[in-house]
Amino acid sequence: MKRTPLIAGNWKMHLTIQEAVALAKEIAKSSQGLEDRKVMIAPAATSLNAVAKAVRESPVIVAGQNVAWKQQGAYTGEISPLMLKDAGADMAIIGHSERRHIFGEDNAMINQRMVGALTYGITPILCVGETLDERDDGLTWEVLKAQIREGMETIASEQAEKIVIAYEPVWAIGTGKTASKEQAQEAHLFIRGVLEGIYEKKLAEQMRILYGGSVKPDNVDDLMKMPDVDGALVGGAALQSDSFDRIIHFS
Ligand code: PGA
Repeated sequence: MKRTPLIAGNWKMHLTIQEAVALAKEIAKSSQGLEDRKVMIAPAATSLNAVAKAVRESPVIVAGQNVAWKQQGAYTGEISPLMLKDAGADMAIIGHSERRHIFGEDNAMINQRMVGALTYGITPILCVGETLDERDDGLTWEVLKAQIREGMETIASEQAEKIVIAYEPVWAIGTGKTASKEQAQEAHLFIRGVLEGIYEKKLAEQMRILYGGSVKPDNVDDLMKMPDVDGALVGGAALQSDSFDRIIHFS
């Protein structure tokens, strides 16, 4: 089963509108002609629309960094899936470890976000990953299984095939400590097995699983060689056009 790799940049709470547009234009330029892979960027909500306009003529996909589950309403601070679409986004990161650990989002809320995104035509990237304590306590597989099973609850196969999963071990995010390619492959294979347990094998084989956590120009090639690593979710190294350019041109 051939899966088209996806390289996704998560800009987190960085860049002014002007800086975001400038970086987006560079990325649009370097993504030209890349037919065997997809490139996505997730700017802060304030620059989402300006970035979407800046990359409109390019193959670059624009995403929100989170998404609410209702079309509108009294949800101060949230952005609805319709608002994301309106601003020019087609995807949304959901359940990022910073949302889980700093803002207390749990699997049940993340599931609501997943269902809401799909209802309004936003493709989710569901982030999962264990903390260092959980890994040390031998809980990695249990944690990943619960995050996937509970995060994907009630999502039917027809919807699930679009979903992208990102495995991001919390201990590797922003720490410069990447999972080894073997650790990444082991976790991705496990995740595919969990998906196979929920849906059928064919569907699990179709779904993309990205690796995230200190992906850099010097480790992306090795990670991308692993059979179940279908792309990368990149934080720090996505904020500079030269390093992101090198990452999207992985071999
Ligand atoms: P990092 O962040 O590449 O800076 O480790 C990855 C992420 O949080 O998605």
